[in-house]
Amino acid sequence: MKEVVIELDHEQERRTNRYLEKVFSSMQTTLVVTDSQGLIQTVNRALLELLGYTEEELLGRPLSAICTSAELPGAASPEAAMHSESLALVRVETRYRSRDGRLIPMLGARSALRDEEGGLEGVICIAFDLTERKEFVAQIFQSEKLASIGQLAAGIAHEINNPLGFIFSNLGTLAEYSRDILGLVQGYENLYQALETGDADQIAQARLQVGSCRAEVDVDYLIADLGQLICESREGAERVRHIVQSLREFAHLDQTEKTPASLNQCVESALTIAWNELKYKVQVEKEYATLPQVPCYPQELNQVFINLLINAAQAIADQGVISIRTFQEGHWVCAAIADTGQGMSPEVRRRIFEPFFTTKPVGQGTGLGLSTSYHIVVHKHGGELLVDSQEGVGTTFTVRIPLNGAGESPPR
Ligand SMILES: Nc1ncnc2c1ncn2[C@@H]1O[C@H](COP(=O)(O)OP(=O)(O)O)[C@@H](O)[C@H]1O
Ligand SMILES: [Mg+2]
Repeated sequence: MKEVVIELDHEQERRTNRYLEKVFSSMQTTLVVTDSQGLIQTVNRALLELLGYTEEELLGRPLSAICTSAELPGAASPEAAMHSESLALVRVETRYRSRDGRLIPMLGARSALRDEEGGLEGVICIAFDLTERKEFVAQIFQSEKLASIGQLAAGIAHEINNPLGFIFSNLGTLAEYSRDILGLVQGYENLYQALETGDADQIAQARLQVGSCRAEVDVDYLIADLGQLICESREGAERVRHIVQSLREFAHLDQTEKTPASLNQCVESALTIAWNELKYKVQVEKEYATLPQVPCYPQELNQVFINLLINAAQAIADQGVISIRTFQEGHWVCAAIADTGQGMSPEVRRRIFEPFFTTKPVGQGTGLGLSTSYHIVVHKHGGELLVDSQEGVGTTFTVRIPLNGAGESPPR
């Protein structure tokens, strides 16, 4: 009788085990269970497939073999994190390291595995792969950039067209001038030839020709104006080159490495691109400090400043002032963009960094400018994006970038 009961118990246990195995291996999310020392006891198929390990390779190894960061606040390592008192369910963004060394962004949750007396027996970590989501977010940011180029395109074309217009008209005048000058030169050339022959008649005729040419052409005026036309056209061409250069910098695909750049330069590029949106209603005041270069993604900071400048201009209904100030504050380099626009109510202020939040009509706002800017400044540069706004008075946004170049590496 006793033996039958034991056999039934075994059968029951086998069935439970099989059932649990089926549950674990059917899970789409990855599962790791450790013992109280942080050594891996159980893994599921999703984890093995994602990381490329076999079960034998992972069992008994510390969690840090696959999990790169200390996941809980204040914990120095995943193992130390396990002993944290706060081992309730915690949602964390972390990275797993695959067998071939790739770092995979994961969103995970941890729970304590407790024994009957409530002691810590281990930790259960489930997580899922964030790669696709990260790529999606990166795409949204890229399309925000393209959308803002689209919105600015007409204005930029206008900015390029202006100097091109007067370069073209100057070229017309220069063509006329060069005809006159060539006529004169030809006259002098004839005179020279006549002088060479020494024939008095020929010389007299050539002199007459030069005389009538000179009477038609105001040589002094021509020489003075010629220099000015060339100088003006050069400046125009330089302006076009500057705009195209800024546009190229801006439209460039995101860099993977930070490079040292000047915040002043980023602000200037942004001003060039946004100029047409500002020039009719805004007086721009600039106060640039001499700043050290800072490791950053310059094009992305351009994007931030374009967003802030356009927002500032859009907040100004009629005429107003945008003041741009750059300065250094300890280990931060900063740029503040202040406008005398309509300001924000506290309700708007609270929501401005939410993706797709906008108070503007369709076509004027996507609601992505500030959330993108926040991501770039805070997550990618380890910086701060501060806002100070007073309804009816104006708004100041301040970008602060740390000189030590902290912040996450870009999405792969
Ligand atoms: N300088 C500013 N002055 C007043 N309100 C602003 C300013 N900048 C942003 N806002 C508010 O924040 C909202 C979100 O801005 P943003 O993310 O750039 O999206 P969008 O400009 O497309 O609306 C704006 O719709 C506006 O209400
Ligand atoms: Mg905007």
